Amino acid sequence: MIQLTVNGSVKQYDGDPAMPVLWYLRDLLELTGAKFGCGMGLCGACTVHVEGKATRSCVTNLSDVAGKRITTIEGLDPKGDHPLQKAWRAVNVPQCGYCQSGQIMQAASLLTEKPKPTDRDIDEAMQGNICRCGTYQRIRQAVKMAAGVKV
Ligand code: FES
Ligand code: FES
Repeated sequence: MIQLTVNGSVKQYDGDPAMPVLWYLRDLLELTGAKFGCGMGLCGACTVHVEGKATRSCVTNLSDVAGKRITTIEGLDPKGDHPLQKAWRAVNVPQCGYCQSGQIMQAASLLTEKPKPTDRDIDEAMQGNICRCGTYQRIRQAVKMAAGVKV
């Protein structure tokens, strides 16, 4: 039996400990904000927080998160009003939207570590999150807006 916390709720899981966390979140808990993209840790669409740090849930197994705290885009802010979510709306970042929950979760982890990131910090933190629609300029703008640094 694996116990973990998802968006503040304690969960018990007694299935296959090798199942990826992304499957668990989407199929069992119906938290579908995190997306399946590559399944290989290469695109960032599945990004959630484990103990507050951006983590690729497609390559993280349930056994890896035993006793840990997971936050998904659904739990980032109770009303969807995290500063990044507000900035995302203000800048109108998404195009198709597929990558965007992963982008926001990655950016949220960055701002926790570095509340006033430089351009380089942003580039380094976000480089593993692929956007096939090419919204990178608006992502950077929104991260800076949320951080209150000069755009
Ligand atoms: S689906 Fe997890 S990194 Fe691409
Ligand atoms: S908004 Fe379409 S993949 Fe990023």
